[in-house]
Amino acid sequence: MTLTADLRTDAAAPCPPPPVDTAAALLAAAERLLPGLERGRAIDAGTLRAAMTAAFGGSDAEGAWSWKLAYDVGEAAQVLFLRRFGPAMLARSASPAAFLAMLERLTALLPSQTRRSEESQARQQFSTPLPLAGVVAAAAALTPADRVLEPSAGTGLLAVFAELAGTNLVLNELADTRAALLERLFPGVPVARFDAAAIHDHLDAAVRPTVVLMNPPFSALAAVDGRVADAAVRHLASALARLAEGGRLVAVTGAGLAPDHPAWRDTFVRLQERGRVVFSAAIDGRVYARYGTTVDTRLTVVDRVPADDPAVFPASPGMAPDVATLLNWVRRDVPPRASVSEIIAWTLRLFVPVGERGPAVFAALLARHPLLRVVDRTGP
Ligand SMILES: C[S@@+](CC[C@H](N)C(=O)[O-])C[C@H]1O[C@@H](n2cnc3c(N)ncnc32)[C@H](O)[C@@H]1O
Repeated sequence: MTLTADLRTDAAAPCPPPPVDTAAALLAAAERLLPGLERGRAIDAGTLRAAMTAAFGGSDAEGAWSWKLAYDVGEAAQVLFLRRFGPAMLARSASPAAFLAMLERLTALLPSQTRRSEESQARQQFSTPLPLAGVVAAAAALTPADRVLEPSAGTGLLAVFAELAGTNLVLNELADTRAALLERLFPGVPVARFDAAAIHDHLDAAVRPTVVLMNPPFSALAAVDGRVADAAVRHLASALARLAEGGRLVAVTGAGLAPDHPAWRDTFVRLQERGRVVFSAAIDGRVYARYGTTVDTRLTVVDRVPADDPAVFPASPGMAPDVATLLNWVRRDVPPRASVSEIIAWTLRLFVPVGERGPAVFAALLARHPLLRVVDRTGP
């Protein structure tokens, strides 16, 4: 018997490209963009398409990749850039505002995100623009002693600032492709894939972050179709429950989620039974223009220390028209970290003179660094 095969290919129906490891291809494409960013060259749609096509072994027209994935690659390239050049940028910046301006110039090199995918819509995958992420990190006042949790870490645009500050990172992300990309972008960092609306129920008991940086989905829940008004609150409350005593949570949410909004006031009063809101300001949606949305957002800082009166909130400075203004407000209004104050007081105690002037020096020290309370050490 003779078997014959028709090996002609049909030009109208091209063979689909071979399957690839998506996360590996995303990282490879991001690495291809890095030299251009290093030279300060704009990454236009053509450059991004070429990097994606090379990394995936096929084009978007052939179904090898989508534009949403390409935008994720642009964000991953910013993470790689910041890891490589962030320390030098910080060293060269005369002020936090100068560092912010560098971040804005970097972001402007990437193309605007004009297309969305079904998953990006459903999971509300609007990443934090890099300059805003820089302000989030500034509000957190990170130190290398911190353990930082990012419960819905996306492409790592908040997490990379925690890495820059030398902290110990723990990441979580529900979307499989993004979680796999994070594992490649942050080798050695644990990446969990839980529903972060209940992150406190899921994470190992040993994970006790001193800082949470988060920009959760504003109105989407993992197992629910359609809009859920309190989705962000659930993410926030669960992360706050997991935060160590004295720790700080910094969140980007929709602008409406404010303590002075009548619809959310009671929610925030309940939240203040666990922590104290120390800052809340809205941010004009123009900050997100390059990221495919112009929705107004809000920066909220909560310290896990008891509120004197859970029904009282700090006055909001209003709506920041840009990130530079927001940074100024953060530097002016966000108080020092509670846990840091405690450590300062504890450390300085060792230097209080024991002679005649000792009590007066100690009194002056306590006036400057009020003793919030005495706690057992929970960290290393
Ligand atoms: C608004 S984006 C922000 C991403 C990242 N935090 C940032 O600031 O750039 C929200 C992220 O949460 C992820 N996500 C959506 N629902 C989630 C859930 N229930 N648990 C964990 N992550 C979730 C999305 O896939 C997306 O990456």
